[in-house]
Amino acid sequence: MSSSPAELHYNGQVYPLPLLVGTENEPAVDISKLRDDTGLVTLDIGYKNTGATKSAITFIDGDAGILSYRGYPIEQLAANSSFMEVSYLLLYGELPTMSQLETFNHSITHRTLVHENIKKFLDAYPASTHPMGVLMSTIASLSSFYPNSLIANRPMADMDRTYHRLIAKMATIAAWTYKKSLGHPYMYPNNKLDYVSNFLQMMFGHRTEDYIADPVVVDALNKLLILHADHEQNCSASTVRMVGSSHANIYAAVAAGVGALWGPLHGGANQAVIEMLEQIRADGGQVSKFVAKAKDKNDPFRLMGFGHRVYKNFDPRARIIKEACDQVLNKLGVNDPVLDIAKQLETTALQDDYFIERKLYPNVDFYSGIIYRAIGIPTDMFTVMFALGRLPGWIAQWKEMRELNEPIGRPRQVYVGHPRRDYLPITKR
Ligand code: SDX
Repeated sequence: MSSSPAELHYNGQVYPLPLLVGTENEPAVDISKLRDDTGLVTLDIGYKNTGATKSAITFIDGDAGILSYRGYPIEQLAANSSFMEVSYLLLYGELPTMSQLETFNHSITHRTLVHENIKKFLDAYPASTHPMGVLMSTIASLSSFYPNSLIANRPMADMDRTYHRLIAKMATIAAWTYKKSLGHPYMYPNNKLDYVSNFLQMMFGHRTEDYIADPVVVDALNKLLILHADHEQNCSASTVRMVGSSHANIYAAVAAGVGALWGPLHGGANQAVIEMLEQIRADGGQVSKFVAKAKDKNDPFRLMGFGHRVYKNFDPRARIIKEACDQVLNKLGVNDPVLDIAKQLETTALQDDYFIERKLYPNVDFYSGIIYRAIGIPTDMFTVMFALGRLPGWIAQWKEMRELNEPIGRPRQVYVGHPRRDYLPITKR
């Protein structure tokens, strides 16, 4: 996996820097020994050029618009797999056999109940609370109900139950957060249903009648959750790894990941996209006016759902979701005017030099909200849906980092503050 070293010429010396070449031939310079050998640190604000780890989970080629989980192309997984099967793949590295998947499903299905005291947390929040705040705090509080999770160096072999517990309970917590916001009674999990159908009945079911999830919606939600399941070292996954690297418990690490995902530059963009499309619609639908605003440096407006740190081509997930939009809305008989606005926005932006020069394309968040809305999920729950999908990826990243016994994450800096100075008593300032 390595070829001849790169060289750093500094202070009259030549320092060899080992080169690594990844599975898909992506080259990297290993600077692990840089400070010991040269006294230098690197500066890379936002880690735009810096790899934090060697990972075997997800591969992205941003220039070619390629995404794969454990080597399987996202297009094939989205078309043929299920969210539970992809969760197994991300966690354990291989597609499950029938019996492995049955065991995995059984383990998750029978962990969907949450402690009744969780209701007291949910009831304590005002109805206007953003669901991501509820999700973040409730996931962190799960560690209170499972004290063994606080054992810092538990054998990794004992962790499967915790992984499955998190995947199972996040769906229940997400659905109960929604029910709480409506003032509706909570729906309990139904162990006879698959993961997605069970989530939908907890979200949209009522105690007074049977709820059968529409197969079109089940299929669309499986696809969306698969597409969100992992994305290598994105902001929230890096957060989960960073918190996990201090050997804090996995609930705390995942709760931190929920917090990072909440931001509108990251997972919060799916909510911001719909709000932007509604703003354009309310303003008369003049797409070109908003494209001009997005280009104006003096205007804070950005085209939400556009651009990506890694993809400098179409985000393959956006392509798949855009296609699914038309299919799902047609099958459900939903006509959403913001879909037309989104398509006009995409066409206009992709013909504009500003976006072409900066290689700004629609990302995963640009169309996803249109499907969530068509299946009845409210806008402020969109990022919760992103978290539900991303959870197996966060767990896989945490698991890989801990199994490789990686050191605590602790970046360096360049200090640009005051030089050393002596304290002055207040009477002399
Ligand atoms: C996700 O990392 C991941 O993998 C994330 C994710 C995942 O699955 O985990 O893919 C999920 O977070 C997708 C991204 C969702 N966010 C948005 O849609 C918010 C809108 N997009 C941007 O704010 C932005 O594109 C980012 C945050 C996504 C990426 O920002 P970068 O890489 O830091 O790039 P940048 O802000 O430095 O932008 C480069 C240039 C700038 O112009 P110049 O200074 O060169 O003149 O492009 C411009 C930016 O102003 N630009 C935009 C723009 N995005 C970038 N201009 C207008 N509208 C935009 N959306």
